[in-house]
Amino acid sequence: MKKISHSPEETLQLGKFLGSSLIPGDIILLFGDLGAGKTHLTQGICIGLGLDPDAYIRSPTFTLINEYPGRLPIYHIDLYRIDSQEEIYSLGLEEILFNQGVTVIEWAEKLRTPNSSENLMLNIEDRIEVNIKIISDSEREFTFNSFFPEPRTLPIFTLL
Ligand SMILES: Nc1ncnc2c1ncn2[C@@H]1O[C@H](COP(=O)(O)OP(=O)(O)OP(=O)(O)O)[C@@H](O)[C@H]1O
Ligand SMILES: [Mg+2]
Repeated sequence: MKKISHSPEETLQLGKFLGSSLIPGDIILLFGDLGAGKTHLTQGICIGLGLDPDAYIRSPTFTLINEYPGRLPIYHIDLYRIDSQEEIYSLGLEEILFNQGVTVIEWAEKLRTPNSSENLMLNIEDRIEVNIKIISDSEREFTFNSFFPEPRTLPIFTLL
């Protein structure tokens, strides 16, 4: 479940492939350093969900949550500027997460609870996690993991 991307375009393609197979209620958690490619992957996911490829996608760093109209509503969340659990709870994200859209969260590291490396805040259980590692200027290693009670075949895993 690892894939190396050699360019931003390849990352867009990966995202597109993932986005095309998503269903209502899906939650995608993105982990990785500054400039890893989380927003590029999100852009691909949006295209895969039917959003106009020219639509302007950027980290919702100031607004925290952006909503885009795809085949399903897409909620793009960036937790970079959040630094306390209280702030996360105050965002009211549950309303978005447990709804009929697709939610993509950058800096999902912030959802890990200090006491348990396994549990995530906001009652998040079913999810797809994507870890992105910077290998070089143009290379990124993507690791995809899905957490569902029932095995679900995601085409992205057949690609890898
Ligand atoms: N293979 C690659 N995939 C994605 N981006 C790449 C790749 N190689 C180089 N880059 C560059 O890395 C940067 C990734 O930016 P992006 O905004 O997607 O990262 P991010 O993880 O969202 O960062 P931030 O934490 O600031 O939100 C861009 O400048 C892009 O051109
Ligand atoms: Mg970003």
